[in-house]
Amino acid sequence: MKKISWLALLTAAALSVNAHAAPERVGDFTLIDNEGKAHQLSKYAFNEAVVIVAQATGCTMNQENVARYKQLRTNWDHRGVSFLMLNSSMEDERAGIRAEEAVWEYDFPIMDDDAQLVANALGITKAGEVVVVDPERMNVLYRGPLPAQWARAPLGEVLEAIVADGADSREMDTVVEEVEAAEGCALEFPAAEQYIAEAPDYETEIAPILIERCVGCHVEGGIGPFAMNSHMMIQGWSPMIREVIMTNRMPPMQVDPAVKSFTNSGNIPIEERQKLIHWINAGSPRD
Ligand code: HEC
Repeated sequence: MKKISWLALLTAAALSVNAHAAPERVGDFTLIDNEGKAHQLSKYAFNEAVVIVAQATGCTMNQENVARYKQLRTNWDHRGVSFLMLNSSMEDERAGIRAEEAVWEYDFPIMDDDAQLVANALGITKAGEVVVVDPERMNVLYRGPLPAQWARAPLGEVLEAIVADGADSREMDTVVEEVEAAEGCALEFPAAEQYIAEAPDYETEIAPILIERCVGCHVEGGIGPFAMNSHMMIQGWSPMIREVIMTNRMPPMQVDPAVKSFTNSGNIPIEERQKLIHWINAGSPRD
């Protein structure tokens, strides 16, 4: 039952945005792909659009669509559209993603969304979903299937609209189409489910993370540009804190954990990132 209520919440959010005829927004993020390369959404701003395909190991919908993803890319990449895959499955490690890519020859960068936070931000609930984003304005323009005849379907219409001369995604709408659950494509989001039902507790869950990971620099007289010395201060800086966590800018000196793990590297564990972001998404509550 819990799962249903969480999905209902997401749907309700999407509907209320649609009612105002303005697109859903997404914050900037950085993720590492199956080859160890970093992708930051805002760095694609020279593109008209980025198409992101939700992928999971064993998802039959992805496997059956490999040729059509490539066809879509052939048709659109010369018109300023970039293509990426996003793996947000909790079960898939980087090695498994590489193995799946080797068998099915996706030939797209597959971003490893290990904390599932980018899927949450894009409204992705299952593998096989396709999302179109304007990386300059950070607007989500389409979320739905890759239809057999995409040129005449909403996906093709959205792409045509955003590559058109003078297109402004702020005047567009987020088009949401239902994606049928194909075998092997279901995704579970236990952290989102838990923290949307009840936000992490500031005193016992959030403050200890900040003290351990950030306060060493973000203290009165420290090298960080602001001191994390009160709930109000942290709440006020929350949008920036979310951005630096989602783009791996803070703490400084992070390394790709799949490449090498240094004991003193700045990486924040997945569970801590999930707590921080879901707490901020809930409005950074005091209690
Ligand atoms: C090793 C010292 C250090 C640590 C640890 C550190 N910061 Fe920072 N932080 C800085 C410095 C220096 C700056 C200013 C320069 C910059 O933006 O890179 C900064 C800037 C920021 C900014 C402002 C960014 C902007 O663009 O204005 C935010 C927000 C922030 N840090 C959040 C955090 C969070 C959250 C953590 C813990 C997860 C953290 N920092 C850990 C040193 C640190």
